[in-house]
Amino acid sequence: MLFEILTLFPEAVKGYLETSILARAQRAGLVEARLTNIRDFARDKHQTADDRPFGGGQGMVMKPGPLCAAIRSVLPGRVILTSPRGRPFDQAKAEELVRLDKLILVCGRYEGVDQRVIDLLVDEEISVGDYVLTGGELAALTILDATSRLLPGVLGSQDSSQEESFGDGLLEYPHYTRPRLFEGRAVPEALLSGDHQRIRDWRRRESLRLTLLRRPELLERAQLSQRDRDWLAEMAAGLEAGREPGR
Ligand SMILES: C[S@@+](CC[C@H](N)C(=O)[O-])C[C@H]1O[C@@H](n2cnc3c(N)ncnc32)[C@H](O)[C@@H]1O
Repeated sequence: MLFEILTLFPEAVKGYLETSILARAQRAGLVEARLTNIRDFARDKHQTADDRPFGGGQGMVMKPGPLCAAIRSVLPGRVILTSPRGRPFDQAKAEELVRLDKLILVCGRYEGVDQRVIDLLVDEEISVGDYVLTGGELAALTILDATSRLLPGVLGSQDSSQEESFGDGLLEYPHYTRPRLFEGRAVPEALLSGDHQRIRDWRRRESLRLTLLRRPELLERAQLSQRDRDWLAEMAAGLEAGREPGR
């Protein structure tokens, strides 16, 4: 899968792409990430990529000329503008995007981009959360990272994405590794039991417990068995009685 990242600050993106799983995926030819500096498409001698907003107000706006030329230089492909005004990014969106061969991720800066760029060339605006970042680079990397790790072969079998948070609509259970006792805290006994069914049950209950406590709205869409529902009812009753559902 090819990711074209358009940015005024390629150096802010480069290091992450050259690290760990993403670097390995690129070496293996599963992911290709290309960086384009939008400033290279500015025609004036100062390579100006931003200007003051019409109508006044604070801050600068990314000029349409250089940005449109930069996008056109990497077309065709789905053009995504990172923006706090966009639709929220989530696992379902990553699963939708991974079906495409090519994504063009546009990183905004300053107050954002001239609206005509959006009207002319952007297919979709995506937000990574209800907060304002300084620039779209972290948002583009978030989209690239969450999407590319769903490509077959990108994660080794050790890092499988199948049992992760959101995989089945729930948050993931807690993890433990050696030592068995750390600063007075022991690994939950079920995980040491060697009883696979007991381990599965413990993990499932923990997923349900954490989801109930932290993201109860996810339970409405999660795939739940009758036993899951019974456990949840038990935990919810405990919560109502003022007890945090225990492990
Ligand atoms: C300082 S922000 C601009 C914020 C804009 N003036 C507003 O109030 O909506 C600069 C750039 O960072 C990126 N950005 C900031 N927050 C983001 C978010 N939550 N999700 C995606 N991109 C974001 C966008 O590309 C945006 O154009």
